[in-house]
Amino acid sequence: MRIVLVGPPGAGKGTQAAFLAKNLGIPHISTGDLFRANISQGTDLGKQAKSYMDAGNLVPDEVTIGMAKDRMAQPDAEGGFLLDGFPRNVVQAEALDEALKADGLKLDAVLDLEVPEDEVVKRIAGRRICRTDSAHVFHVTYNAPKTEGVCDICGGELYQRGDDTEDTVRKRLEVYHSETEPIIDFYRAQGLVVTISALGKVDEVTERAMHALKAEKTA
Ligand code: AP5
Ligand code: MG
Repeated sequence: MRIVLVGPPGAGKGTQAAFLAKNLGIPHISTGDLFRANISQGTDLGKQAKSYMDAGNLVPDEVTIGMAKDRMAQPDAEGGFLLDGFPRNVVQAEALDEALKADGLKLDAVLDLEVPEDEVVKRIAGRRICRTDSAHVFHVTYNAPKTEGVCDICGGELYQRGDDTEDTVRKRLEVYHSETEPIIDFYRAQGLVVTISALGKVDEVTERAMHALKAEKTA
């Protein structure tokens, strides 16, 4: 399947993507994680992205679209993928449609995670991620690691993301409403959007998402 995951910062896209990708046997492609990997490796792309991310703004489309397309062209994504954080505006959504169309492909579903803003703020405030792999995500109370500050999955050091400060989170939410929410209407017009509540325990949300995706596949 080719799926886009959409939802505000802190909705649980990364958390859910890890389980959904495993269940569906497709790679989890997060543009945020790709940017963070580039930043920690000190690449030119990472240097270009950092100031935008620290300010809570979108990284320019020319940088982002190329990076996302390169990742989707990798052999593991041939049979499908789960996109997390891409597309993030209508220009990116149109570029994705065009790229898929050129290969005779299309998206199967857009999974929209709905969470109230006060919950999102609590989730982001307690989030800790792994320095070795930023797809390894924890929360100090909701999803606490067995040993404080240490990743359960790989033993890496846990830290708080630089863009998880109060001011930057406010900016990211603003950008989500103005730039990203319009893609939901864009995809609704194509009949692709499935909205679920992302409240509740992580495994309950995964079950809800799997159920919604199966229903969409057989619709
Ligand atoms: P990105 O990394 O994509 O960040 P985001 O969209 O702001 O989303 P987050 O990663 O903050 O939240 P999430 O929904 O993944 O939540 P998580 O699972 O971690 O992007 C960062 C930046 O990169 C952007 O601001 C931009 O600058 C740039 N960028 C990226 N893509 C771009 C693009 N396409 N174009 C341009 N720029 C781009 O969960 C959050 C917390 O909640 C965790 O602690 C988790 O443990 C906890 N949690 C999860 N689920 C539950 C639950 N059910 N109950 C309780 N707690 C839970
Ligand atoms: Mg994420």
